[in-house]
Amino acid sequence: MWPTRYVVAARQAESKDTVTLTLRPVENPIEPPRPGQFTMLYAYGVGEVPISVSGFARGQELVQTIRAIGAVTRALCAAAPGDMVGVRGPFGTQWQLSLAEGRDLLVVAGGIGLAPLRPALLAALAERARYRRVVLLVGGRSPDDLLFARELETWRRRGASVRVTVDRADADWKGGVGLVTRFIDGAVTDPARTAAFVCGPEIMMRICAHTLVSRGVAAEDILVSLERNMRCGAALCGHCQLGPLLLCRDGPVVNYADAAPLAAKQEL
Ligand SMILES: Cc1cc2nc3c(=O)[nH]c(=O)nc-3n(C[C@H](O)[C@H](O)[C@H](O)COP(=O)(O)OP(=O)(O)OC[C@H]3O[C@@H](n4cnc5c(N)ncnc54)[C@H](O)[C@@H]3O)c2cc1C
Ligand code: FES
Repeated sequence: MWPTRYVVAARQAESKDTVTLTLRPVENPIEPPRPGQFTMLYAYGVGEVPISVSGFARGQELVQTIRAIGAVTRALCAAAPGDMVGVRGPFGTQWQLSLAEGRDLLVVAGGIGLAPLRPALLAALAERARYRRVVLLVGGRSPDDLLFARELETWRRRGASVRVTVDRADADWKGGVGLVTRFIDGAVTDPARTAAFVCGPEIMMRICAHTLVSRGVAAEDILVSLERNMRCGAALCGHCQLGPLLLCRDGPVVNYADAAPLAAKQEL
């Protein structure tokens, strides 16, 4: 439960409110996180919040992408190289790439949801031959809000079919306009051989999962990432409870067969 000290080794602005930090341990590092897992990041003197791992760095470094929405995330986004942060974890479940092996992998991201999906996408592209197709659908509010925009072309070259759409376009925008959910139908070509990883606002995940199921993708083959208020991260405090699940332990990545009945009772 005691945070391990990491120093900010690099800071990359992704958009006007989102920053990617590369964190280097200054003492014994935490275990290497797996795609989909999160850590509790502590801005000293401000507070601690759950943040997903958004990439793999060299050696024992961590890569995490943070959107500034409140006191703690604002403090983390303001951290500069050389500043210290505390890290606990890694916690939670992971994107099961084995579900997609020999099949189509459909990755659907809305906004900051691309951050937790990025390690799974990178892992799939590193072993591209294991998957029939790798399709990435990305939705953002505007072109300026898109995360990892500089990497989209690299992902295409490495064998992903990438489609990007925004809610509000400007005159220079060459991609799609509209909700990412609209493109799901066309992205599924063989529902029985498709696994989908979906992360974004809850309403977006619900519409995506519903569309995928209606196209014939099995609910067990659809993974979503559920966020709830978290405190301990270690299945001790109950803050993250959703029905029978403690999402810091049984999530955040959950298959839609398990998530759907909970969504019927409350906002998923
Ligand atoms: C498993 C998990 C993984 C996460 N991964 C990331 C990540 O990779 N990058 C990232 O930027 N954020 C991520 N989050 C969300 C992040 O933890 C919250 O943004 C953070 O806790 C807000 O804390 P704060 O003190 O900055 O703001 P607060 O003062 O706590 O909140 C500011 C406002 O945002 C609302 N809010 C708080 N948390 C959320 C949330 N999860 N979703 C929507 N609204 C919220 C509050 O109700 C309030 O209105 C993740 C959350 C979970 C549970
Ligand atoms: S955050 Fe404490 S039980 Fe999950």
